Amino acid sequence: PIRKVYAREVLDSRGNPTVEAEITVGEGIVGKDGYTGRAIVPSGASTGKFEALELRDAEPRYRGLGVQRAVEHVNTVLADAVLGENALCQSRIDCLLLEADGTEKKEHMGANAILAVSLAVADAAAKAMRMPLYQYLGGCKSTQLPVPMMNILNGGKHADNTVDFQEFMIMPVGACCFKEGLRMCAEVYHTLKEFLKERKLSAAVGDEGGFAPDVQGAKEALAMMAEAVKRAGYTLGKDICFAIDVAASELYEEDKKAYYFPGESFMTGTEVYRTAEEMTAYYEELTETFPVLSIEDGLDQEDWEGWQRLTQRLGQKVQLVGDDLFVTNTERIARGITMGAGNAVLIKVNQIGTLTEAMEAVELAHKAGYRTILSHRSGESEDTFLADLAVAAGSGQIKAGAPCRGERTAKYNRLLAIEDMLGETACYDYKGINGNLRK
Ligand code: PGA
Ligand code: ZN
Repeated sequence: PIRKVYAREVLDSRGNPTVEAEITVGEGIVGKDGYTGRAIVPSGASTGKFEALELRDAEPRYRGLGVQRAVEHVNTVLADAVLGENALCQSRIDCLLLEADGTEKKEHMGANAILAVSLAVADAAAKAMRMPLYQYLGGCKSTQLPVPMMNILNGGKHADNTVDFQEFMIMPVGACCFKEGLRMCAEVYHTLKEFLKERKLSAAVGDEGGFAPDVQGAKEALAMMAEAVKRAGYTLGKDICFAIDVAASELYEEDKKAYYFPGESFMTGTEVYRTAEEMTAYYEELTETFPVLSIEDGLDQEDWEGWQRLTQRLGQKVQLVGDDLFVTNTERIARGITMGAGNAVLIKVNQIGTLTEAMEAVELAHKAGYRTILSHRSGESEDTFLADLAVAAGSGQIKAGAPCRGERTAKYNRLLAIEDMLGETACYDYKGINGNLRK
């Protein structure tokens, strides 16, 4: 049973407070010493409107971002709810946490408080069972290593540059295994750095470790990445493909019913707006020019009809990922499935607030033939739960940032360890939207 529940306020990769929970289990399951699991909750910057609530203190300390109330909730109400419970019953634990909160968006306790407990319980249970976390969560069928979507060029809310799309990622689809894929991406990353320096562009990095140069727009960014891939000795479209996260909800202006591009406007000296229709045409052009396999949040989080049209136009050949659109919420995912909006779901545990609900989101998506991608947040920590969860979910894809910055490499390094543990049974195989994209 769960013997001890304890939380503290720690820092995330942006230097902002977040919740860490420690759960100790023992006796009923194991010997008298017990096992302690832990988890640190991540935090987003371009958060979706429909995400579960992240509770912040709104007091002067930490400029209003303290999480002392969330920590207090773990140490009192949530501890009371789960003490003595069997840590192996994850769904029951998560139910108890939800009951203790009682609101839809987890406003009373805070999704950050609830999630810290939910994840730490799983970690403790895995330790008590003496199983690696990925295996405890996913069973013995968990042998699929995810293809990384490595964010090597940052923009939008994650950097102070002029790039309006938030993320430009490379996917090593032609690698034979995760380890080789990681190497290919790191090589391209360093080649891109070299290239930026030659062009006297900044090689400083954004929140997720990708470079943040001042370039005009998506075409220029993708062209530079294409050059870096070639220079690193890889074949674009075969060894390495691209993915983008537009984070379009951040660009959308309700009164104008259009998407504003502040960086592009600044660089060109003219105000650049694009309607949903123009955005769709823009994506068509980008996917015809570059091997872009995946477009995330291409349209606003409330534009269901726009998403439907976008999916009709591009869904046969491009993975269209809903992040702010779906917020790992089964009700929203179900609506998307019914409408044919998007064809893939980004899974972020802190958007929904419990492990069980996140797993349900994965299951619902997979049953409907939607792909899933397990994802970090722009504010992360050294916690590696995500890597194990990606293998357990069998998603085949992960977003964990650049091959740079400890909080990002922690996840990739954990995947290397998992691949080693799986040995011969490990698989790594990128299946595109129409089956296997490898030519
Ligand atoms: P966030 O960004 O963590 O800042 O929300 C990540 C994403 O949009 O995928
Ligand atoms: Zn996103």
